[in-house]
Amino acid sequence: MKIKAIVVNELGGPDVLQLSEVAIPAILPHQVLIRTEAISVNFADIKARRGEYHGKVSASPFIPGLDCAGEIIKVGAQVTRFKIGQRVMAFPKEGSYAEYVAADEKLAFAVPDGLDSETAAASLTVGITAYNVLNRVARLSPGETVLIHAAAGGIGTTAIQLARLAGASQVIGTVSSEAKMETAKNMGADHVINYATGDFAEKVNSLTDGQGADVILDTVAGENFEKSLRCLAHFGRIVAFGHGNDRSLPGKVTTADLHSSCRSVLGYSTGTYRKLRPDFLQESADKVTDLLLQAKLKILISKRYPLAEAAQAHSHIESRKSIGKILLIP
Ligand SMILES: NC(=O)c1ccc[n+]([C@@H]2O[C@H](COP(=O)([O-])OP(=O)(O)OC[C@H]3O[C@@H](n4cnc5c(N)ncnc54)[C@H](OP(=O)(O)O)[C@@H]3O)[C@@H](O)[C@H]2O)c1
Repeated sequence: MKIKAIVVNELGGPDVLQLSEVAIPAILPHQVLIRTEAISVNFADIKARRGEYHGKVSASPFIPGLDCAGEIIKVGAQVTRFKIGQRVMAFPKEGSYAEYVAADEKLAFAVPDGLDSETAAASLTVGITAYNVLNRVARLSPGETVLIHAAAGGIGTTAIQLARLAGASQVIGTVSSEAKMETAKNMGADHVINYATGDFAEKVNSLTDGQGADVILDTVAGENFEKSLRCLAHFGRIVAFGHGNDRSLPGKVTTADLHSSCRSVLGYSTGTYRKLRPDFLQESADKVTDLLLQAKLKILISKRYPLAEAAQAHSHIESRKSIGKILLIP
């Protein structure tokens, strides 16, 4: 059977995202086949399309996309946790920009009644990632100050709320425009800095009486990471988990930045946990799902595009005008 999927045959701009007909994925004994209902667009998909995702360049055509939600239509012989007809959100084996995807049982998570498939799809990567970096990597304690870069985006709007729920005393966001300041404030940030109009490190230091932020979430890397070290408090933790800057440049740190100040730089990648420690993700997925069901956490979905318009979805994010999450609907 043939299905529709977005295929990247050559790396480049949004136009390389081509709607194509491909074979329906075959499943292995420990996998489920999912008919997708909503597909999440992540910034990582843009990096992959350009050949800049973790410096990896795919030599062969690939389907982009990290996560999606939908209904299980087939289960492998060794699958124990799921049955046909159940709704799940998942990190599929190949890309998620497709009408049907195959996913390992360990990388699929039940979607309870009461959680719609769009929210489920939109929440998987950003929910798990923001929850993990704050609680399980930086180990945010109640009363600490948090600085969140790209605060109006998918990760940013989710992390603001999760930082509040973890008891942060002050949540500061940085964004690139006035319009995005409004979004980050509405999601619960105490202060939002437009870094395009001034030095964010100076502003963070002045908002924290010269102490700096206890936890910094940096997904931009490069110069942004280096500047962030200028406003990281003693005993502070900065989590490096993205390279959003234009040229995907890394940020640099020296031991002198860390030693006497007792500060730490921590790395994190949900992709690496997916590959090497998938069991680690279930607890975070459960926590995020509970918060969504209790309406303590909201995923801001700002736009939906048909699957065929994946290129427009990417262009929108690259325009720097997008807020929250963007979805593709198959
Ligand atoms: N390590 C992980 O496991 C993991 C998982 C998910 C996401 N991430 C990372 O987290 C970041 C946010 O991901 P997301 O999917 O939620 O995307 P997003 O935040 O919705 O969009 C990307 C954001 O990056 C900021 N940005 C900074 N420099 C940019 C540039 N040169 N070009 C475009 N945008 C730039 C933009 O905010 P401003 O315009 O306000 O600067 C934009 O909102 C990405 O860097 C992503 O790779 C990491």
